[in-house]
Amino acid sequence: SNIIIINGPNLNLLGVREKGIYGDQDFHSYFETLRQSYDGVTLTYFQSNHEGAIIDKIHEVGFSVDGIVLNAGAYTHTSLAISDAIAAVTAPVVEVHISNVYARESFRHHSYLAKNCKGVICGFGLNGYRLAIESLLTK
Ligand code: DQA
Repeated sequence: SNIIIINGPNLNLLGVREKGIYGDQDFHSYFETLRQSYDGVTLTYFQSNHEGAIIDKIHEVGFSVDGIVLNAGAYTHTSLAISDAIAAVTAPVVEVHISNVYARESFRHHSYLAKNCKGVICGFGLNGYRLAIESLLTK
């Protein structure tokens, strides 16, 4: 299988930003561990702080990969354009949030993306990415 993780804005600062909420592990070290634990799964990673770049990536991979794990960060709560991109492609998308967005500010309770996703995983820390991959591998 071919699965891509797409991280949106500010997620390049994992391990540095708001550690009480997002933990102290940087994504690159987590990703390496994750990658090595899946034999026969091609796992790739893309991060951008730019809405259009995330949309371009979804278009680029969304007709060929077996699944997209997407943490769009704050764009989750604002972006109809990313929502439309998810609807446009054929690959299933799983929405992930590291934090439990429902235990936080009310503006984080609504997702523009969720209705076009296979499902949503939130509140399990970085392990949410693994759970999302598992859900894509279980057909
Ligand atoms: C986040 C939750 C969002 O509300 C926030 O804007 C983020 C990270 C998460 O992974 O918990 O940047 O997507």
